[in-house]
Amino acid sequence: MAGKKIAVLATGGTLAGKAASRGDNIGYTAAQLGIEELLAAIPALAGTPIVAEQVAQVDSKDMSFGLWSQLALRCAHWLAQEDVSGLVITHGTDTLEETAYFLQSVLGPAKPVVLTCAMRPATALAPDGPQNIVDALAVAAAEGARGVVAVCAGTIHGAHDVAKQHTYRLDAFSSGDAGPIGYVEEGRLRLLRDWPSPHASAPALYSKSTAATRWPRVEIVMNYAGASAAIVEALVAQGVDGLVAAGTGNGTLHHELEAALLDAQSRGVKVVRATRCVQGRVLSPAGARLPDSDGLSPVKARIALMLELLA
Ligand code: SIN
Repeated sequence: MAGKKIAVLATGGTLAGKAASRGDNIGYTAAQLGIEELLAAIPALAGTPIVAEQVAQVDSKDMSFGLWSQLALRCAHWLAQEDVSGLVITHGTDTLEETAYFLQSVLGPAKPVVLTCAMRPATALAPDGPQNIVDALAVAAAEGARGVVAVCAGTIHGAHDVAKQHTYRLDAFSSGDAGPIGYVEEGRLRLLRDWPSPHASAPALYSKSTAATRWPRVEIVMNYAGASAAIVEALVAQGVDGLVAAGTGNGTLHHELEAALLDAQSRGVKVVRATRCVQGRVLSPAGARLPDSDGLSPVKARIALMLELLA
């Protein structure tokens, strides 16, 4: 958008990672380089109107509720600026989908909020971060773009569907059955479907989430061969507020685990049934005793449940 700038909010990740040797793509420390240094190293950005802010410097495996709140507040600040067309957030790949879903839920922005990342550290022989940043900026500046999306390896994913599905490849993310929103090709967007909704699904929760001193405790328990009641019983004894069951297949649960979850539900613990399958959603039969996650993966169902409980 002519005359408008893009705010780049940095949170760390591999994109800002450093290895001792240039050939090392895996033996590095994430979140080492500052955003000013990373942007200055991309000649293609010369003259691009950018304002950069280092919100955090973390390996995203250590993402916290406090940091989410802080990030949501900084996003709200920059989104409210007339002369800002959109935001880019640099983030580690490991919990990127969770942050994307959280921000879409609490902000539902009418402007684009574009999370981007890297699978290789900045010191790699061929780092992927610089191109991902350039692509993310193209999306943040695009006419009509809106909502929280992720841009990685030239692909635009919506916050609801994006999930990391590969441990090593540069194209590590997928939108599953839904498919990506589109692609970024030489700075141009090729769109396949609509942007995320410009409405927060948890509007009243935003200020509460930022002020909350105690986030609800919601844990994920998985079904597998030989699963038992033990973990659920231990969590209930500790006073857990909610449980997401990552079931097998169509959300099926070992009978012992299911009995423990039904017991937890009867004691007031909120229980949601998702699936550990990477593709597809739980389709509940009529009369199902545990509600399904409405198509959300276990980690996103957990966030949805935390926001519901926070209300
Ligand atoms: C992280 O998630 O911060 C480290 C891993 C990555 O960015 O790929």
